[in-house]
Amino acid sequence: MSTAMVARNQASLADAGVALMANRDTSPLLAARLHRRRFMQASLGAAGALAVGANLTLPALLAAAAGKLEIYSWWTAPGEVEALDALYAVFKKQYPDVDVINAALAGGTGAGGNMKTVLQTRMLAGQPPDSFQVHLGHELIDSHVKAGRMEPIDFLYASEGWNNSFPSGLLQLSSDGGHQWSVPVNIHRSNVLWFNQAVINNSGMSAPTTFDDVFAVGDALKAQGIPMFALGEQAPGHAAHVFETVLQGVFGPDDYRGLWTGATSWSDPRVSGALTTFNHMLDYTNPDYLSIQWGDATDLVIAGKAASVINGDWNNGYLKSKKFADYGWSATPNGAGMYSSLADSFGLPNNTADRDNAISWLKVSGSLAGQDAFNPLKGSIPARTDAGKSADYDNYQRAAMQEFKTLTIVPSVVHGFAARESWVTDYVNAMNVFAANRDVSATAGTLLQAAQDAGVA
Ligand code: GAL
Repeated sequence: MSTAMVARNQASLADAGVALMANRDTSPLLAARLHRRRFMQASLGAAGALAVGANLTLPALLAAAAGKLEIYSWWTAPGEVEALDALYAVFKKQYPDVDVINAALAGGTGAGGNMKTVLQTRMLAGQPPDSFQVHLGHELIDSHVKAGRMEPIDFLYASEGWNNSFPSGLLQLSSDGGHQWSVPVNIHRSNVLWFNQAVINNSGMSAPTTFDDVFAVGDALKAQGIPMFALGEQAPGHAAHVFETVLQGVFGPDDYRGLWTGATSWSDPRVSGALTTFNHMLDYTNPDYLSIQWGDATDLVIAGKAASVINGDWNNGYLKSKKFADYGWSATPNGAGMYSSLADSFGLPNNTADRDNAISWLKVSGSLAGQDAFNPLKGSIPARTDAGKSADYDNYQRAAMQEFKTLTIVPSVVHGFAARESWVTDYVNAMNVFAANRDVSATAGTLLQAAQDAGVA
């Protein structure tokens, strides 16, 4: 990336109310120290091993080379599982004696609802996992940092050179009070329309880019009995995700951002307008959307039983995992100039049982090798600005890396970037109710109330 591009990228993230950072992988050094330990143990026998373990110059690093590492996430879907496994594989290569416990948990309200509930219980009890998936932005800062349950990781940003490895906008996001609290593994785009290319071709239309387009293509497909959109709202989440992209398309980047900062009022008539548009989209959606999940919705697109699905680019990982290649993508309606973003990250809870292993995990998560193993399978682009060059990345990802530098960055709400978790939950639940009762005026009132409860309207 050229300096000018990095600067542009950083500026747009700052505009989005976001911030990013950089890294150098020191794992060869650790591996060398590990070898040295093994050599000394082999040469000196058990007593020697104990002596080496007590050696004040090496013990922290050496102790980290065994024991366990417990990682929480909600990565249980096709694509997510393989991506996480690939990151674990990089870790295991460097720390072969550490037993990795993959505590991934699916389900619940919004992104990672059930996992977050279990996590919160552990955090409150002072028995955290060694590290956990958390979105950069309000989710990380409001839910965990301000609660005083995380350790700052400035020392890792310094030792790994991370201050120069990530877009500065992301660094602002992961920081609070002048400290860094987590390391981003990726950047996801949430405002993408994924479509079955053959179904679109058969409609005789081209891929839609505006609201008018989607309804025109939708009408052509309706005549063939195929819904334009697939939706999976069995649990609250996907409807709220789609609706945030409708808000983006209706309000444009500045006013959309303003909805989450108080600069745009939730009593603005465009909120009802966006709900009316979304309600109209539901007429072009699989009728059983209240009884299937987001992965099932993507399966409808793969099977040609629906033309498209609006979802983040984890859907890219899902499609690849399912070995489905005949898909295309475009920005969500009226969203072509915007890159709606979020980033997954890992941090260091206070009092983890395996702190040294957790630190090793963070180093791997922020490393070039880690990010280039994880992201091609996850569907996202790497957070590191020097990653993403390997042939493992697909056409979508190569295009996304370019677009991330040039488009206007706006924050995803459902995925923790734009608003605190209690507000996100109110918003997600309101949209789940809307998906069932389709009551525009009641839902506009609920959304206004949610903003007022969050102290923003
Ligand atoms: C998001 C998360 C992604 C992906 C997605 C669907 O919140 O950032 O990594 O897991 O949920 O599960």
